[in-house]
This record gives sequence, structure tokens and C-alpha cells, in this order.
Amino acid sequence: MKSIQTRQKSNDIVFTPQKIVDIMVADIDVNMTILDPCSGKGVFYNSFKNNEKYKCEIENGTDFFEFNTPVELIYGNPPYSILTKWLEHSFKTATKKIKYIIGMYSLTPVRIDLATKHGWSVSSLILTQVPTWFQRSYIITFEKKECNNMIEFSSINLGNRCLYCKCPCGGMKGENISHCKRKMSDEKCYY
Ligand SMILES: C[S@@+](CC[C@H](N)C(=O)[O-])C[C@H]1O[C@@H](n2cnc3c(N)ncnc32)[C@H](O)[C@@H]1O
Repeated sequence: MKSIQTRQKSNDIVFTPQKIVDIMVADIDVNMTILDPCSGKGVFYNSFKNNEKYKCEIENGTDFFEFNTPVELIYGNPPYSILTKWLEHSFKTATKKIKYIIGMYSLTPVRIDLATKHGWSVSSLILTQVPTWFQRSYIITFEKKECNNMIEFSSINLGNRCLYCKCPCGGMKGENISHCKRKMSDEKCYY
């Protein structure tokens, strides 16, 4: 396996299952403007129903770091290799709420300090394990209010079956007990 240090291209293109997105978008206020900052194939963007909505996707020529229109909400699955810079731009662009799914180990004191510096607080943390993703994830919500990081902490158990084909899956490469051949970066499985 190529090491993270020597690889030529990051593995930041990971598609979020609709089931996760449905959980994340359930609290959206339809009267607020919303941005999917890194839309990929549009799983978040297409799930924003009646909002005035915007999207960026570098592969389609729209760079989030060049998007400077204030929006009330930002929801998505950001590229993890540039997460600190990404969060900083999110904190400057959103005005009410930011909700991201991030790797469990991506939640660092530096990033929480950054949120505080920009006037944001963590209001909710949901721990989950997306089958075939290699580490557990947090669905993290930041809100633009003083709540001293008093968070609501909960978890969602998605089981250990592929969320697409429902077959048992044994890890990011679908090895061992797995019948599902889906890799972490695949949008679909090929069972
Ligand atoms: C983890 S993937 C998520 C894709 C999609 N939102 C989903 O959840 O299925 C991160 C996405 O960020 C995009 N991306 C990386 N840098 C970007 C940038 N500067 N501006 C916009 N999109 C970017 C990648 O091309 C990739 O599609």
C-alpha cells in the first residue's frame, strides 16, 4: 500500500451514503440559504429540498476557497487532508450552522480552538461507523452562538453491512469476511 506521505494524489474523494446524508439533513430549516461546499456527485446538494442552495466542487471547476457569498448553513463531507484550512473558510462563510461528517481522529484541539476563535461552538457530536470507511466518524455540528462547547453527544449504529448492497463487509477494502467488493472511495459496490 502506498504511504500517505508519498502518494501523488490524496484519497479525499469519498462518497457519502444517502443514509448518512438523510440523517444529517433532517434538521435543515428550509427558509435558510445553504451551501454544499464539495458536492462530489451531489448527494448532499440533491438532498437540500426547498432551500435557496449553492454548491462547489473542485472537479467541476468551482473552488470552495473562492466562494465568498455568506450563507446561513453549510452541510457536507469535506476533504480531510485540508480540514483545518477548510474549517477556517467555513467559519468565515457560514453565519448560522455548519454540519460536517469528519473522521474521528480529525477532531483536534487546534480545530476546536479555531472554531472558538471565529465565534463558533460545537453543539452536537454523533459518533458513527460507516461500513467500509476505515475509521469511525463524527457528525459534528457547529453553531454560531455562545454555548461554551456544551455538546449533545450521541451515537448511531449503522451495523456492519454495506449500506448499498446490504452484504457483510469486512473493512475498507472489503477483505476477509466480506462479500461486498466496494472500496471506501467507490460510490457503489460491485457484488
Ligand atoms: C469526501 S469527498 C465528498 C464528496 C461528496 N460531498 C459526498 O459526500 O459524496 C470531498 C470532495 O471535496 C472535493 N474538493 C476538494 N477540494 C475542494 C475545493 N477546494 N473546493 C471544492 N471541492 C473540493 C473533492 O473533489 C471531493 O469531491
